[in-house]
Amino acid sequence: MTDASTLVYVLNGPNLNLLGTREPEVYGHDTLDDIAMMLEDRAATLGLTIDLRQSNHEGHLIDWLHEAGSREIRAVILNAGALTHTSIALHDAIKGVPVPVIEVHLSNPHAREEFRHKSWIAPVARATIAGLGPLGYVLALDAAATF
Ligand code: DQA
Repeated sequence: MTDASTLVYVLNGPNLNLLGTREPEVYGHDTLDDIAMMLEDRAATLGLTIDLRQSNHEGHLIDWLHEAGSREIRAVILNAGALTHTSIALHDAIKGVPVPVIEVHLSNPHAREEFRHKSWIAPVARATIAGLGPLGYVLALDAAATF
């Protein structure tokens, strides 16, 4: 059983299962499995354990945030995909749990369409990293190691 204080959930929302083939000019060629491997390597050097999950369903992400809260894990790294821009329920879930959440985006939503400029996650996140591709997840893990 993993010590919860060294555990980091890496939660990914809608369409991120398509990474690698989805709009590669925007999101790059790495798959979510590639990102998981990068994070596992980095976690090993940091003495952390990652649990990477993806769902296309808002409720799953909410349930996983609640689970993170009840286990009092180190941190959650969250790329909520398009739910970032729409989900007050995710905003409330983050607010409701005693776990720091780092918001990550592969692209820089502020440099894209106007509908991506609003984030319901940012006001309740410990930090936001956007526009650095998969490196953003690795940097978020480095940050989580300091929490
Ligand atoms: C994204 C940015 C969102 O606007 C978009 O809906 C995604 C991916 C990113 O990682 O850049 O699905 O979160």
